[in-house]
Amino acid sequence: MFASVVLLLAAFLFFLLLFQTHRTKDFPPGPQPIPIFGNVLQLNLESPIADLERLAKRYGNVYSIFLGSRPAVVINGLQAFKEALVNKAADFSGRPQDLMVNHAVQVKGTDQVILADYNPGWRQQRRFGIMTLRNFGMGKQSMEQIILGEIHRIIQQFEQSVGNTINPHRLFHNAASNIICQVLFARQFDYEDEFIKFFVDLFQETSKIINGRWGMIYDSIPFVRNLPLPFQKAFKMFKISHERRLELLAENKKTRVPGKPRHFIDCYLDELDKVGDDASSFSEDQLCAFILDLHFAGTDTTANTLLTAFLYLMNYPQIQERCQQEIDKVLDGKDEACFEDRNQMPYVQAVLHEIQRIANTVPLAVFHCTTKDTELMGYSIPRGTIIIPNLTSVLYEEGQWKSPHEFNPENFLNDQGEFVKPEAFMPFSTGPRVCLGEGLARMELFLILVTLLRRFKFIWPEDAGEPDFMPIFGTTQSPKPYCMKVQDRRQGVF
Ligand code: HEM
Ligand SMILES: *[C@@H]1O[C@H](CO)[C@@H](O)[C@H](O)[C@H]1NC(C)=O
Repeated sequence: MFASVVLLLAAFLFFLLLFQTHRTKDFPPGPQPIPIFGNVLQLNLESPIADLERLAKRYGNVYSIFLGSRPAVVINGLQAFKEALVNKAADFSGRPQDLMVNHAVQVKGTDQVILADYNPGWRQQRRFGIMTLRNFGMGKQSMEQIILGEIHRIIQQFEQSVGNTINPHRLFHNAASNIICQVLFARQFDYEDEFIKFFVDLFQETSKIINGRWGMIYDSIPFVRNLPLPFQKAFKMFKISHERRLELLAENKKTRVPGKPRHFIDCYLDELDKVGDDASSFSEDQLCAFILDLHFAGTDTTANTLLTAFLYLMNYPQIQERCQQEIDKVLDGKDEACFEDRNQMPYVQAVLHEIQRIANTVPLAVFHCTTKDTELMGYSIPRGTIIIPNLTSVLYEEGQWKSPHEFNPENFLNDQGEFVKPEAFMPFSTGPRVCLGEGLARMELFLILVTLLRRFKFIWPEDAGEPDFMPIFGTTQSPKPYCMKVQDRRQGVF
């Protein structure tokens, strides 16, 4: 009996030593960690925002917490952002490896793109991705036409609901997923299709698991990783998604004509023919990973931004109306909006940017990691430290905005009513890791918003009560579910 207690105690002490946590010299300050668990037990894992706010107030713009035994530094405010992500970009643009999200999405040890560390392979893939999206227009359709085509479907759905209320949640997710699927492999799915349902669910659920309670526990406490805890569901779903992508790839390879790309997959395979997979980062596994990254990153983000847009536009009807006046004037006599029209619509531009600011769709960006020993705001930060860029702190920073805490398009208008973009506007983050899909996302948001506002009036239902603007926290945040009432502006009646 005594012997086993001693043994147990010894084992425990050994564990404490093994997972010892301490701050290195001049490391950013923060709360005292507990061995093994770090600071996770001190945070409300369901919604850590309030606890973290307390820490930021107490310790300043650059502070640290421990995820288990791994130190992480949270960066707040424009000044610290610029020093880290822009001026010292090479030091701060890595990605942490060995977190739950890496294990969940990794395909056969390929590097992905979103989660790839700061290395030549990532740079090659990223450059290819940006170029291919920018030059899109292979096959017969331009990016703009693809988006407008999807908007027709959204309109059809709304038409069926004119006079009634509709919950737009699924609708916007389907639309965003469909747009990126057409770019990737030229398939537009029916909104009831099983494929689209699976992926939309995958992205929504896992984005909440990974940044939520179970993700934190997985990341902090390595020896629970194989236990049958809720995070296993995310692993299972990603595995199925990989099989689906392999089927898709096999199908496309059968029908492809080299040199005549129809979509992103074909472009990638053409590139692979050219460079080969020995001396480059291009490979079919890498392609599979890339498809998932773009599909994942392009769905929940865009959809949740749209959901936030309509939540606010319904509850600020004067702002909605003023957008509609500008849209009517600029598009007078035209069938469809195009992305160029934004230059004639300063007010709509201001509203759209204000929506993105207040939506704060990816509140903590994607975690970064230091690539070497470095310094930030006078603190020393060793190589391999997790960096958490707190985008919220910049998008709502006092001193950077006319009204930081209020929904107000004036944040993006000067005295002459012209559109201006303050430096602190960075919903897509900043530096070398800035969102790769920014161009596509901005085009989607503009065209969808303008086309829908031109055609419909959106009304907060009388029986819906007071709106709740507080989002649900996650890697991507989403507004709480709501319904909207739709009125056709062409008929002016319900
Ligand atoms: C409103 C919509 C969107 C928002 C708010 C958004 C925001 C972000 C943010 C904050 C990051 C992390 C940047 C960092 O680590 O510092 C990111 C990365 C990324 N986004 Fe987006 N995104 C959106 C739409 C899209 C779309 C449509 C695509 C796909 C075409 C996309 C693809 C990516 C990729 C691939 C990365 C990883 C880049 C890298 O690690 O090099 N995003 N995005
Ligand atoms: C990020 O900044 C916001 C606003 O300053 C704050 O409420 C939140 O707690 C911060 N999050 C972290 C992780 O520090």
